[in-house]
Amino acid sequence: MSRAGRISGAGPQAEPVMSPEPSDSAGAAGGVAGAAAAARAEGLVKIYGSGQTAVTALRNIDVSFPRGHFTAIMGPSGSGKSTLMHCLAGLDTVTSGRVYVGDVDLSKLSDKQLTQLRRDRVGFVFQQFNLLPTLTAAENITLPLSIAGRKPDQEWLRAVVDAVGLASRLGHRPAELSGGQQQRVACARALVTRPEIVFADEPTGNLDSRSGAEVLAFLQRSVREFDQTVVMVTHDPTAASFSDEVVFLADGQLVDSIPNPTAESVLERMKHLDDLQQEASAAGGASPEAPQPQPRQSPDEWHEAGQEQDHGSAGRV
Ligand SMILES: Nc1ncnc2c1ncn2[C@@H]1O[C@H](COP(=O)(O)OP(=O)(O)OP(=O)(O)O)[C@@H](O)[C@H]1O
Ligand SMILES: [Mg+2]
Repeated sequence: MSRAGRISGAGPQAEPVMSPEPSDSAGAAGGVAGAAAAARAEGLVKIYGSGQTAVTALRNIDVSFPRGHFTAIMGPSGSGKSTLMHCLAGLDTVTSGRVYVGDVDLSKLSDKQLTQLRRDRVGFVFQQFNLLPTLTAAENITLPLSIAGRKPDQEWLRAVVDAVGLASRLGHRPAELSGGQQQRVACARALVTRPEIVFADEPTGNLDSRSGAEVLAFLQRSVREFDQTVVMVTHDPTAASFSDEVVFLADGQLVDSIPNPTAESVLERMKHLDDLQQEASAAGGASPEAPQPQPRQSPDEWHEAGQEQDHGSAGRV
C-alpha cells in the first residue's frame, strides 16, 4: 500500500525532522503518485493580506493524497491545516503553486466550473456540522444532489445511509438528533455525490468521545468499504489513529509523517516535534523567513480548548 501524505522540503526547525521520501514523492508533477492522487498540491503558497499585515499561511507545500486512503493532518493551531484543506477543496484561492483534484488543475477553472467541481467532486465536513435546520436528515443528505438537479442513485444512497447507521432517524430534523448523529448526517451528505475526495476539518472537535468514535469509524469504513478518499484535520492522536497516515504541518510547512499511526506513535511524534521546535527557539528562533515566529507549544496545546481528548474505546478497527 502506498503512503498517503508526501512531503518535500525541510521543516521550519533548524535541523530537518524527517528524511525526504524516495521515488514516488509528492507533488512530483505528472509523476506516478500524481496520477493516482485524488488531490494534490505543488509548490502551494498561501499568503493572506499584503504588506506589513501579510500572513504566510502555507510555504511551498508539495503533497498528494492517494485514492482510497484516509489521511490525517495534524499540527499546532495556526500551522495552516484548514488553509491547506480549503485550498485543496477549491474553497480558497492560492497565492502561487498549483492544486489538482484528480487531474483537474483548479487554477484553470472558471468560477462556474469551480462551483461545479466543489459540488460534484469534493465533499466537505465542517466542525460545526452545517446542516440545514428545516430539512430532515434525509433531505440534508441528498441536498447536494437536489441543488445539482440530480436524482440520487438509490443503491448508493442506501449504502451510505446504512453505513451511517441512521436509517431509523432519516425523518428527523437536526435539532432532534444528537451531535454525533448530526455529524454522521453531515458525513453522509459529503459522500452522497461519490466525490473524488472528502475533506473533514476537525469533524470530531465538537463531539464527545463516543460520538467522535462513531464518526471516525464511519469515515474509516467509507475508505475501506467504498474506496473513498478522506483527508481529515484533527488535534486528537486517537482520532488520527483511525487514518492510514498522519502528516504534520508546522508553520505552514509539511514537516513529518507517520504511516499506520497509533495514538501512542502520534503522541510520541508530537512530543518530538515540539522538542525540536523548543530547541530551534532556544538556538535562535524559528526559520528566518518566517514573518511571525510561532510561539512555543507543548503537545497539550496542540489540542484546542474544549476539544474532547479522551476517545476511550476509539482506535483502529
Ligand atoms: N482569512 C484569513 N485572513 C488572514 N489570516 C488568516 C486567514 N485565515 C487564516 N489566517 C492565518 O493563517 C494561518 C493559518 O491558519 P489556519 O486556519 O489554516 O490554521 P489551522 O492550522 O487550521 O489552525 P487551527 O488548528 O487553530 O484551526 C494563521 O496564522 C491564521 O491566523
Ligand atoms: Mg483550522
